[in-house]
Amino acid sequence: MAIQIVILAAGQGKRMVSDSPKIMHPLAGKPLLQHVIDVALKISPNKKPIVVYGHQGKVVQDAFASAPVTFVLQPQQLGTGNAVMCALNHIDASDQVLILSGDVPLITEETLQRFIAAVPADTVGILTATLTDAKGYGRIVRDKKNQIIRIVEEKDAGTAEVLIKEINTGIYLVPARYLQTWLPTLTNSNNQNEYYLTDIIALAVANHVAIHDAAPTFVEEIFGVNDRIQLATLERFYQRQLAHHYMRQGVTIIDPDRFDVRGSLQVGRDVVIDVNVVFTGQVVVGDDCVIGPNCFIRNTKLDARVKVHANSYLDGAEIATDSVIGPFARLRPGTVLEREVHIGNFVEVKNSTVREASKINHLSYIGDSDIGKFVNIGAGTITCNYDGAKKHKTQIGDHVHIGSGTKLIAPVSVGNNATIGAGSTIIKDAPANQLTLTQRLEQRSINWSRPGEPSK
Ligand code: UD1
Ligand code: CA
Repeated sequence: MAIQIVILAAGQGKRMVSDSPKIMHPLAGKPLLQHVIDVALKISPNKKPIVVYGHQGKVVQDAFASAPVTFVLQPQQLGTGNAVMCALNHIDASDQVLILSGDVPLITEETLQRFIAAVPADTVGILTATLTDAKGYGRIVRDKKNQIIRIVEEKDAGTAEVLIKEINTGIYLVPARYLQTWLPTLTNSNNQNEYYLTDIIALAVANHVAIHDAAPTFVEEIFGVNDRIQLATLERFYQRQLAHHYMRQGVTIIDPDRFDVRGSLQVGRDVVIDVNVVFTGQVVVGDDCVIGPNCFIRNTKLDARVKVHANSYLDGAEIATDSVIGPFARLRPGTVLEREVHIGNFVEVKNSTVREASKINHLSYIGDSDIGKFVNIGAGTITCNYDGAKKHKTQIGDHVHIGSGTKLIAPVSVGNNATIGAGSTIIKDAPANQLTLTQRLEQRSINWSRPGEPSK
């Protein structure tokens, strides 16, 4: 029996107070809906999940244009029962329908597999959870024999029902043919004037269809995002789980509450990650690396034993073993650092290769350059790579020493073992093995007193 997943995502999400649809808000750098689609594809890889959309449909469809999903419009948000009804035309009568919510992003494959296994064919399954604070959720009503008999929404609940702590997660597994018979019979005679999907539970009971329930591994898995406070709560839960995962693999995370991964992160052993480091995109960190506090690292690969000091910004860089970066370094896309390179404070490197053991320690801009081995770039060196129209290359050989405050007007090259005098403006290629320097201004000293001070 095939499982057809339906993701309900047509609600507007008023409580987000946002111009964009709720399911587009990111958690761990990924839209809420993407989290649900990802887990759906793991559960039922051979059937495209159906996404029921409504509010700002174009924005949602554009964002997920390449996702293997079928979009179905719910023209008016008449309730969750109506939302599933809109999808019925796209569902085979022989399928089991697994209903998920676009605003419940952390549901895991493990819980769903366990849930599916607990629900025999021809019965109805519901995932429930017991919460200390059930506020906002539909409550599960059981009879004296502890059988589920119906779900009551909080807004319709009586004083006794409100006290029930077992709640409806909004995740169900129902044979399609039951949905086809039951959904058209729903009414909206309730306090929200909505067609409630939850009413199918009472219909199952009335039709003598057995109901099976299961619970999630962690209650946070079924938490919905209705406002930005809940979004932040789930973000932190997700990040803390991830931090614990890395810690179990041998990574020291100084404070798991100040650790953020918005993408994929691969970390070796005995890595130390200080507070407030944000990893985005695809990041690889080799064994024994140390990352200082307040670093932003995107699409970057660090080989073993790299040290990144505090407040560094690394984007699109490849950094080989034993290199030392920062504090306050900025590496931009196309930066390739060979082993034992040092990039110091207030140094920006873009689209450049710096070869083995070279050092650029202070206040420099290196763009579109190829810098050889064992080079020392003095403080305040600038590669002037842009003439206003085109970018030009700077080529620096091995064992070169560039004096402080040098401007290298590209295209230009400096030969192996050359030395450039401090403060030079290099406009032509500088030959190997020689000292090249540009004319300095005459230096004068004259007797002078600051205004107001007695003359000397
Ligand atoms: C729903 C359940 C409640 C459950 C809770 C779990 C109903 C009537 N209530 O309440 O028992 O405890 O989820 O999170 O089902 N949606 C549509 N079209 C609509 C209305 C909603 O697609 O017309 C979508 C929403 O985008 C959302 C999901 O369905 O993804 C749930 O809707 P929401 O309005 O958030 O329902 P809750 O009040 O949270
Ligand atoms: Ca909700």
